[in-house]
Amino acid sequence: MIYPITVYGDPVLRKLAVDVKHDFAGLYKLIGDMFETMYNAEGIGIAAPQIGLDIRIFVIDLCPLGEEEPSLKDFKKVFINPRILHKEGEQIMMEEGCLSLPGLREDVLRHDTIQIKYFDSDWQEHDQVFTGFAARVIQHEYDHLQGVMFVDYCSPLKKRLLKGKLSDITRGQVSTTYRTKTPKL
Ligand code: NI
Repeated sequence: MIYPITVYGDPVLRKLAVDVKHDFAGLYKLIGDMFETMYNAEGIGIAAPQIGLDIRIFVIDLCPLGEEEPSLKDFKKVFINPRILHKEGEQIMMEEGCLSLPGLREDVLRHDTIQIKYFDSDWQEHDQVFTGFAARVIQHEYDHLQGVMFVDYCSPLKKRLLKGKLSDITRGQVSTTYRTKTPKL
């Protein structure tokens, strides 16, 4: 099932998401739906708040980038109840986009290396280190569980310049190839 995607201005994107219980009913179905919703929108990652749920799950599929970056060719992962334990390494600036901020792309500074603890869809616990582009995407999706969006990192000047675009998104005045849920104002 393809969910409509929540956009900037929806309160669910500003909440601290809560841990998923181990007996959560319909976990596999939900994960399948998250991938389906993400592929339909041509995204590489999606977090539960982006489909309106304030729970700690995000999914990422970087396999299509495997031709350019062979280390990513099998990178299809589900992160449940993740905790970033540590960030390190150089801070790198790179342009990001987000399905909840249609039409916007801005430079974001992020650490190159992270250590993260999480459960996979079979409730196996992992404690792993990721670097480079994978670390960037994980940090972006993790932010969604913390109620953070990439525009929060923009300078005050940039934020002023983006104000009109952001209010257009919130009012549904933006065209997307996927269905969005316009926030109730
Ligand atoms: Ni995003």
